[in-house]
Amino acid sequence: MRTLAALQTWPRFGAVAENLAAARALLGDAKPELLVLPELFSTGYVFRDRAEAISLAEPFPDGPTVRFAVETSASTGGVVVAGYAEREGDRVFNAACVAAGGAALASYRKVHLFGFERECFDAGDGPFPVVEHRGLRVGVMICFDWRFPEVARTLALAGADVIAHPSNLVLPHCQSAMVTRCLENGVYSVTANRVGSELRPPRPPVAFTGASVILAKDGTTLARGSIDRPELLLARADTDLARTKRIPSGNDLFAERRPDTYRL
Ligand code: ACM
Repeated sequence: MRTLAALQTWPRFGAVAENLAAARALLGDAKPELLVLPELFSTGYVFRDRAEAISLAEPFPDGPTVRFAVETSASTGGVVVAGYAEREGDRVFNAACVAAGGAALASYRKVHLFGFERECFDAGDGPFPVVEHRGLRVGVMICFDWRFPEVARTLALAGADVIAHPSNLVLPHCQSAMVTRCLENGVYSVTANRVGSELRPPRPPVAFTGASVILAKDGTTLARGSIDRPELLLARADTDLARTKRIPSGNDLFAERRPDTYRL
C-alpha cells in the first residue's frame, strides 16, 4: 500500500514565496509516496499576457518551485509533481516538474493549452513522462489534457500506475470524467485542483472548482476535497494493482485492444 496525496491550494497571483510557504505549511509532516500540487500553483493562473508569464517563469531545474519540489521530495522520500511556469530562452511553458528522492527528474510542458493560455504560453510537444521511484510509476499530464483521452492512454501504455494531474479547473466536468480515464486504463489518478478566484482585468474573472480527487483503478473515489478550502487529501492505495489490466469478466483491457480496427 502507498499513500497518495493532493494538495489543494489557494494561491495569490504573483506571490511565489508566499504560495510556496503556504503549500509547505499545508503539507506539514505528511510523507506521501506521491504528492501532487495544482497547475501553476506557485504563480497563480490568470496571466494578462505572455510578457507577464515570462516575468514569473523559472528555468528548470534552477528556480524556486522546482527547488521546493526537490526539497519536499527529499523530506517525504516520495515523488512530487508540481505545476509551475517554465522558461527556456524566449519560450515559456505551462509545466509540471517531477522530483523524487531529492532530485529533479523531469519537466512536462503542457501539450493542450486551454483558452487564453494559448496567448501566454508555448505548447509543449511531449513526451508525456512516466517516472519510476521506489517501484511506483507516475505518469504526468496537466489539467485540460484530460479532455484528450489519448493522453491518459499514452501514459497507461507507457506503464504508469498513477496519473498525476496538476489542475486549475474552471469547469465541473473533469472530476467525473477522470473516473472513466481510470476505468478505461486501469490506473489510479490524483487530480490536484485549486480553489478561489482571480480577478485580473481586462481578463474576465476566473473561479476555480476545487474538489480535488484521488481515484482508484476501478473509478472508486478514495478522497475528495471541498470546493472552497485549501486542504491536504490523503488516500492509501495498492497501486501495484494497476499492473494487471484484467477485469472481473476475465477480459484484459490492454491485451484485447484492437489497434488494427481503430482509426486514430
Ligand atoms: C485548464 O486547463 N487549466 C482548464
